[in-house]
Amino acid sequence: MFNPGNEIQDLQFFGEFGGVNPSISDSSTYTFMSAKTMLDTFEGNADGCYLYSRHTSPSNLYLSEALAKMEATEAAHVCGSGMGAITGVLMHLCKIGDHIVSSRTIYGGTYAFLKNFITGFGVNVSFVDITKLESIEKAITESTKVIYLETVSNPLLEVADIAAIAKIAKKHNIQVVVDNTFSPLTISPALLGADIVIHSLTKYINGSSDTVGGVICGKKDFITDLKNVNDGACMLLGSTMDSLRAASILKNLRTLPIRVQKHSENALKLAQMFEADGIKTVYPGLSSHPSHNLFKSMYRSEFGFSGMLTIDAGNLEKANALMELMQQKNVGYLAVSLGFYKTLFSAPGTSTSSEIPMEEQKEMGLTDGLIRFSVGLDHDIERTYQIIKECMTQVGVL
Ligand SMILES: Cc1ncc(COP(=O)(O)O)c(C=O)c1O
Repeated sequence: MFNPGNEIQDLQFFGEFGGVNPSISDSSTYTFMSAKTMLDTFEGNADGCYLYSRHTSPSNLYLSEALAKMEATEAAHVCGSGMGAITGVLMHLCKIGDHIVSSRTIYGGTYAFLKNFITGFGVNVSFVDITKLESIEKAITESTKVIYLETVSNPLLEVADIAAIAKIAKKHNIQVVVDNTFSPLTISPALLGADIVIHSLTKYINGSSDTVGGVICGKKDFITDLKNVNDGACMLLGSTMDSLRAASILKNLRTLPIRVQKHSENALKLAQMFEADGIKTVYPGLSSHPSHNLFKSMYRSEFGFSGMLTIDAGNLEKANALMELMQQKNVGYLAVSLGFYKTLFSAPGTSTSSEIPMEEQKEMGLTDGLIRFSVGLDHDIERTYQIIKECMTQVGVL
């Protein structure tokens, strides 16, 4: 049976000089021994030939191949950032007059792109509650080309029923694009019917908070189209990953399975202890989460419920005081992003989701006291919990 952990284990790349790590391609351009092959490569018919590193490079192909294996898709293409992947896909699939149905609880940058940017190109967007299948179906029009969602949404941790949404989409011949950044290995959207799976590699997959990166996983033809020199969004918009980074992300990918397990184990324990203390806690691994059973129906139990949880500190002042104190006590860092070895915490309403207007934040249940935790790889999470508890008591959250 398919298991992305085994897919990562089974990667076998022989370096140019027999190295256990593939050689890093350190060139922006490539020579051709015959002019005819250059023309064929431009037209996309010369497999194994490289043209120019904005198109692709050997190092980027190694990483792309590894991520396609991980997401059980035919192919993949790495980009310079997660937003580079998201904008590339949506600009490629949607042209003037087209329509996108998007989850309303998504990463703030994606929300801003859909609400303020792509609309300027004549693409219309409807935001829906992705947990309500009937609202998705209702929003679909003749012009809908894409249903866009996050498997586990940032920051509210809403869970999408990917198989059911894919079924609706197939009926209307619509592409389902899923951002799986919060749940790598745990959930495989392509196996549930998603057409395109995106990650911000910046987060869990790289895991060391030292670079930004993104990937688009999908059918071979679609990935080839994205790189088309005449009309491929990835080729023309130019959000290209650097080869040195592709090589370093590939090395970090190898430890993803054990990291995800530890992040999830620690997050579950913290979430259970916070909830037992009477803190309003949202975590898909808690039976109190409205989509706990849905998550379980889609996940691989060995990888758990991911490392992301939220608590409600009551109000912004308390949230800020708690985060500052937790940083002082070395629980982790007051920083955006996720997937680092140390715990990261931020108040999404004033940071990663600040692009979403206040009114809309309220409507979707994004309270200003909400703190998002990316739980780290802490060796002793009980010890961490005790420190957090002291901080909570000191600032009056507990
Ligand atoms: C779920 C999700 N998708 C996409 C992005 C964007 O990725 P990047 O910052 O690598 O462009 C983020 C960034 O926070 C995110 O949380």
